[in-house]
Amino acid sequence: MLLDGKFGKSGSEIVIEEFMTGPEVTVLAFTDGKTVKPMISSMDHKRANDNDEGLNTGGMGTIAPNPCYTDAFKAECMEKIFKPTIAAMQAEGRPFKGCLYFGLMLTPNGAKVVEYNCRFGDPETQVVLPLLETDLVDIMEAVWEEKLDQLDIKWSDKSCACVVIASGGYPEKYVTGKEISGLDEKGQSPLAYVYHAGTKLENGKYYTAGGRVLGVTATGKDLREALDKAYKAVDTITFENAHYRKDIGQRALKAL
Ligand code: GLY
Repeated sequence: MLLDGKFGKSGSEIVIEEFMTGPEVTVLAFTDGKTVKPMISSMDHKRANDNDEGLNTGGMGTIAPNPCYTDAFKAECMEKIFKPTIAAMQAEGRPFKGCLYFGLMLTPNGAKVVEYNCRFGDPETQVVLPLLETDLVDIMEAVWEEKLDQLDIKWSDKSCACVVIASGGYPEKYVTGKEISGLDEKGQSPLAYVYHAGTKLENGKYYTAGGRVLGVTATGKDLREALDKAYKAVDTITFENAHYRKDIGQRALKAL
C-alpha cells in the first residue's frame, strides 16, 4: 500500500486504531445544531462478495431498520454519542446543521463510533428515506430555522432493502459501457424502485458508467418481504459482467 502508493496521497499515512468487533449500524441523524433526531437505523454491506468476503466497497447493499440496533442501544447512543457530539460542536463554536452520519459498531463493551460523515450515506439513504413519512422539506425547514425540537418526525413501520448491482471487477478495475436490460424508459423496474448510481442514457438505452451501477430497492411489511421484492427485481435486470451480493440482509434476518 505504501510502496506502490495504492491509495494515492490519502494512503501515505497509517493510523492505528482500536480493533472493534460486533455488528455495524449506520444511524443518520437530522440536527439543527441543538437538537438531534436520529433517523431509522440501517445496515450496510461493505465487502464486495457474499459472506463479507472480498474488498471493501462503498456499499453493496443495505437494509433498514437494523435489528441489531435494539432499544437499549438506541438509548445508549443517544446519551453517550449523539447528544455529546452535537453539544461538543456547539461548545467549540461550530454548531452543525444538516444530516450527520454516525457509523457505529455495537461491541461487547457498548456502542462505539467508527466514523462520522457530514452527509447522508450511500447506499443507506436508499433504504432510510423510503420509510420517512414526514415531508423532508418540513424537516429541512425545521433544521434551518433551528426548530427541530418542535417537529414530530414520523417513520413507517415497514422494512426496506437495497441490492446494489455493480460492474464485474468493482472495486478494482471494471469495464463500463455495457447495455443494461430490464429497465423501462424511465430507468425503472415494475418490481422495485431503481436508483441510478453509475449509468448513462444514450438514444433511449441505459448503459453502465461506473462501479456501482444500480441500487434496486423495495419496501415490505417486514425485512423478508422487502428482500424478496428487491431480489425479484434484481433477477430481471442484466448487463454483461453484472455482479451483486446474494446475501444482503441475511445477517439481519438471523438477528431477527
Ligand atoms: N455507505 C457508507 C458511506 O456512505 O459512507
